[in-house]
Amino acid sequence: MTLNATQKGANRVVSDGRKWWKEQIIYQIYPRSFKDSTGNGIGDLRGIINQLDYIKNLGVTAVWINPIYASPNDDNGYDISDYRAILPEFGSMHDFDELLAGLHSRNIKFVMDLVVNHTSDEHYWFEQSRSSRDNPYRDYYHWWPAEQGKPNFRWSYFDEKGEAWKYDKQTDAYYLHYFSQKQPDLKWENPKVRQEVFDIMKFWAEKGVDGFRLDAFQFVSKDTSFPDLPESYKKDLSEVIKYHGMGPNIHEYLREMYNEVLSKYDVFAVSEGAGSSFEDAHDLVDEERNELQMAYHFEGVDLKKSVDNPPTCLDFKSLHTKWDKSFAHKGWISIFLANHDCPRMVSRFTNDSPKYREFASKLLNTFLLTMRGTPYCYFGDEIGMTNISFKDISEYQDIAAINGYKKAIHNNEDMTEFMRELTVFSRDNSRTPMQWDDTENAGFSDVQPWLKVNENKNVINVQLQNSMPNSVLNHFRNLTKLRNESSTLVYGEYELLLPEHESLYAYTRTDDNNQYLIILNFSNSEQVFDLSMLSGNQYEMIINSHSVNNHEINGELHLLPFQSVVIMVV
Ligand code: GLC
Repeated sequence: MTLNATQKGANRVVSDGRKWWKEQIIYQIYPRSFKDSTGNGIGDLRGIINQLDYIKNLGVTAVWINPIYASPNDDNGYDISDYRAILPEFGSMHDFDELLAGLHSRNIKFVMDLVVNHTSDEHYWFEQSRSSRDNPYRDYYHWWPAEQGKPNFRWSYFDEKGEAWKYDKQTDAYYLHYFSQKQPDLKWENPKVRQEVFDIMKFWAEKGVDGFRLDAFQFVSKDTSFPDLPESYKKDLSEVIKYHGMGPNIHEYLREMYNEVLSKYDVFAVSEGAGSSFEDAHDLVDEERNELQMAYHFEGVDLKKSVDNPPTCLDFKSLHTKWDKSFAHKGWISIFLANHDCPRMVSRFTNDSPKYREFASKLLNTFLLTMRGTPYCYFGDEIGMTNISFKDISEYQDIAAINGYKKAIHNNEDMTEFMRELTVFSRDNSRTPMQWDDTENAGFSDVQPWLKVNENKNVINVQLQNSMPNSVLNHFRNLTKLRNESSTLVYGEYELLLPEHESLYAYTRTDDNNQYLIILNFSNSEQVFDLSMLSGNQYEMIINSHSVNNHEINGELHLLPFQSVVIMVV
């Protein structure tokens, strides 16, 4: 939908700084893994279309689907060869139009994943670019002529050796690829590249998409002199943003994007990554700067990424409180605990043992749907899906795992340790097929799926949980209903209670109309919460992860292991 002159695009104010995109509950669908309608073992658009009523009944209000463009699939669609075509495995443009119409007719918004830090090496631009040094597309990518010697080292996430420069014989030059060799980085410094991207965005905005998720966006602006890195950064990928991203022109490019696209359509943009400081994050989303509307930072999902030393309740709440505080008065962030690049949230942050996983999943969903910020809920988490934890490298499909394995061998790493980490943190953990029922392929497909189904489909599946009033699924639906009805949970102030408590994460969300008290017991033992610390007189239990009625006992609330509650304070 194009806007008329009186509206102001993404930053159109609803009232009091309220914006429609702040009020969404976003459901992320990994299309390969959601539902196969053609019987080839791969999820597709028609599969999603067939499940639109399921999606609507979740109570989510927007859907973000990972890339569905034409792609050779080196990185499952994050390597795009045509930005205006649909990957045939997923369906056709006709299917896309039907999907978008089906979402909109159910009042659900659609967020398009846009991968423009890089293309596929099979994109026409790159094929032209690599063909000769004087091709008009040469300057669409970063090339380093070999006669200038080897370029300075840059990290690559998916390269078998971890190196981002790849020598290309045809023109005797190196090209840059921060991700795989088949994902060459676009040269945003070239205004023609930026114009191409804005045209692509307009193409999809004209079709009616409501938002863009800008993949790997903090990398688009680079120091193109490619200076030598300090020694310490050559060893440690965790500082990669400082030297590889958030370059000198990023804000200029974003303002251009805002002026060219975002201000002209009723769309919002969220960037993957929020720089390396609060200041970076603010600069990206400050409304007065007219750049992006939202960003998501990685600190939450990167929190203590260690097999032996997982994050504690204290780590979890101090991190989320820190981010909330920093955005309390200005700017807006996303809240998420999982996506297609992370393990399953219940395995990562709580406890996925059969004894506790149901309650632990409910607890994390309660957190996601009662925090300030726009929640992003990853498909399958609404039923509490867990890590599959493959043991053998042959079971993995993800380029990050497969090339990471080769790199570890190349670097003489301890392979037992490497496999242990992969089991816990691999991206394939969250990419296993959706568990619709307990049949052989979990109702995902009639044939063997592209990635193994988790055996716990027999006990964790939609069909079963639909029939159980207290299931993780129905609890999720109760939470979305509450959030959709209560602007207090969207905009209300957040206050942390009991900051030193090692097991309870308790906070309030308050505005002029309401106060909610949320208590999450992160431990596997019973915990007591003293209600006298609050000024209310009456406490009404609105949502309870457990069916037991342990509401109020002499001003004390006794919480069972992994119990979570949402209480209205009057
Ligand atoms: C982002 C995506 C990830 C992809 C990478 C390269 O981090 O989320 O899945 O592999 O970018 O496009």
